[in-house]
Amino acid sequence: MTEIDRPTAGAPSRTAPLLAVDDVSVAFGGVRAVDHLSFDVAPGSIVGLIGPNGAGKSTALKVIGGEVKPTSGRVRFDGADLVGAAPYEAARRGLVRTFQLGGEFARLTVMENLLVAVPGQKGETLLGALAGRRWWRASQDAEVRKARDILGGLQLRDKEDAYAGDLSGGQRKLVEIARALMARPKMLLLDEPMAGVNRSLARRIEETLARLRSDGIALLLVEHELGSVERLCERVVVMANGSKIAEGDMTEVRSRDDVLSAYLGRRK
Ligand SMILES: Nc1ncnc2c1ncn2[C@@H]1O[C@H](COP(=O)(O)OP(=O)(O)OP(=O)(O)O)[C@@H](O)[C@H]1O
Ligand SMILES: [Mg+2]
Repeated sequence: MTEIDRPTAGAPSRTAPLLAVDDVSVAFGGVRAVDHLSFDVAPGSIVGLIGPNGAGKSTALKVIGGEVKPTSGRVRFDGADLVGAAPYEAARRGLVRTFQLGGEFARLTVMENLLVAVPGQKGETLLGALAGRRWWRASQDAEVRKARDILGGLQLRDKEDAYAGDLSGGQRKLVEIARALMARPKMLLLDEPMAGVNRSLARRIEETLARLRSDGIALLLVEHELGSVERLCERVVVMANGSKIAEGDMTEVRSRDDVLSAYLGRRK
């Protein structure tokens, strides 16, 4: 098993951020799920978003991905203002989040899942035209080749014809990442990609994320598995009760009392 390189600590990057979350708040009725949250993600870097249950991490991710409109604040990605933009517009700009493979996608094969994920091309009509015809077997279509490439990189090449619904939880997570990669993202939003996955697959997912980073793809990673967060992320943002309570590298934030008590205070 390959060792994952630790990100090298260094001076903060001077390049313009790829993602800038600026003073974002989200209220659900009386609940302030996200409270004046600001942070940046540099191109090609991995930032971890951590915090206890209910801290607002998933809601923050949904605002960034365009699924939830914030009560106030701005999100800029690659120079464009994203608040008010639909998820497909964010995806077209290169900001893509993974989706759980539920419902009808479980009844598609892995290859079918990847092909229908390609934005705005024949994949969309493919769903209706499938009817068991595996036309891509002999296809040299660019998207088919790309799908095989991505599956190869995730060691899933032999699962091409397996039904997504028959895969293990961990393999499904890998397919979710593979689907997102079909959109050629500059940045991926990942909400707990290792949750409920056995150790060896979690390790494979971790290696996959490290490889994406070395391919130049930026990641915003929400994850409770802090060992993986520490190995992968050069910087973490810690949330509690909707607010950012700390930011820095993992060693730095772990030594802070307010971070410890935010975690311990919520633990049952
Ligand atoms: N659609 C919604 N309507 C009302 N309240 C919501 C909604 N979504 C989230 N909340 C509330 O917002 C707060 C933040 O939730 P969120 O799911 O963002 O937390 P989280 O940090 O992702 O937690 P976890 O680690 O458990 O996934 C919680 O109090 C939650 O109950
Ligand atoms: Mg969550």
